[in-house]
Amino acid sequence: MTSTPLNNKHSTLQTTPLSYTDIQSIVADDFEIMDKQVFGSLNSKVQLVMSVSQHVINAGGKRMRPLITLLCARMFDDKPSEKAMHLAAITEMLHTATLVHDDVIDESGQRRGKPTANATWDNATAVLVGDYLIARAFNLLVGFQSLPLLQVFSDGTCDIAEGEVLQLQHQHNPAATEDDYLRIIDGKTSRLFMMATQGSAILQDKTEYLQALGDFGQHFGNAFQIIDDVLDYSGDSEVMGKNLGDDLAEGKPTLPTIKALELLKNSDIEGYEQLRIAVQTGKTPNAKQLIELVRRSGSLDYCKQRALEETKLAQQALSTLPDNRYRTGLYQLTELASARLV
Ligand code: IPE
Ligand code: IPE
Ligand code: MG
Ligand code: MG
Repeated sequence: MTSTPLNNKHSTLQTTPLSYTDIQSIVADDFEIMDKQVFGSLNSKVQLVMSVSQHVINAGGKRMRPLITLLCARMFDDKPSEKAMHLAAITEMLHTATLVHDDVIDESGQRRGKPTANATWDNATAVLVGDYLIARAFNLLVGFQSLPLLQVFSDGTCDIAEGEVLQLQHQHNPAATEDDYLRIIDGKTSRLFMMATQGSAILQDKTEYLQALGDFGQHFGNAFQIIDDVLDYSGDSEVMGKNLGDDLAEGKPTLPTIKALELLKNSDIEGYEQLRIAVQTGKTPNAKQLIELVRRSGSLDYCKQRALEETKLAQQALSTLPDNRYRTGLYQLTELASARLV
């Protein structure tokens, strides 16, 4: 995939796509320290808390949100920043907590290629350890002695929880709209991307960039979640490290389903009814056929288009930020996320 330069001013925006490892290597030293801190920051005196947390954190994950924080920090000031690395590790801890909780809600059995915490232990253990991870993240955030930072992270964490609750409210609702969906993903996914970007600006006193960083995080997060939802219909479970096809089985109206219902209503009323009932009841004995129906409806193409629009908006938001190789890394990260489509 070739990337389009933002505009003529953006000399550092390359046309050669970078791999995820290439982008990580732009901040290699910071990344390594951050990664160790994600483990090192767990210090519970309760062995079970340690075992469950380590199980999920050891399972891997792309560490994309902390990578965003590290790139932003270097974009503003090209020096190693202990604070930024620490904040990046905290962001990953919060992300991990949301995944642990999400897998309970979604009754998921696989995450990061390993059995989930709920499948390995049980729901109660997973919920409580997820709670611990959030509490520990805030415990560490207090150490920065920055009320503005705490404000952004506490507001953001409320929004994430609200996004998941909103999604729960729309489970089994075939009348859910694209706007409903956007409100859900804005909370459950994009908010953490915004926290990852804005947090570093607050630490480095670059508050004049908060708006642009917020826009970048929000649109990138939207694109990322839309793509993830497309992959639930078209991806490879091995590559993704989680079970696919779950969204439909859970009666979750994600954008691929919402759009498929809209398109089928006008072209294939029988197919529309089948899909509507599947969302409403969560009963999918004919799952393969329904997935095929969604694929054939043209809905996935629409979703890919929407994801590209969100990617472009994220890239536009970068244009007012300092022009250097770290900004290029952020740009390339959005390109890479879009490339998961092909
Ligand atoms: C999974 O996020 C949750 C979504 C927002 C779709 P990632 O795909 O970044 O998960 P990990 O951290 O790499 O496991
Ligand atoms: C991911 O949501 C969890 C959060 C963003 C909090 P999903 O349920 O859509 O993603 P996966 O498929 O479990 O990773
Ligand atoms: Mg899930
Ligand atoms: Mg979920």
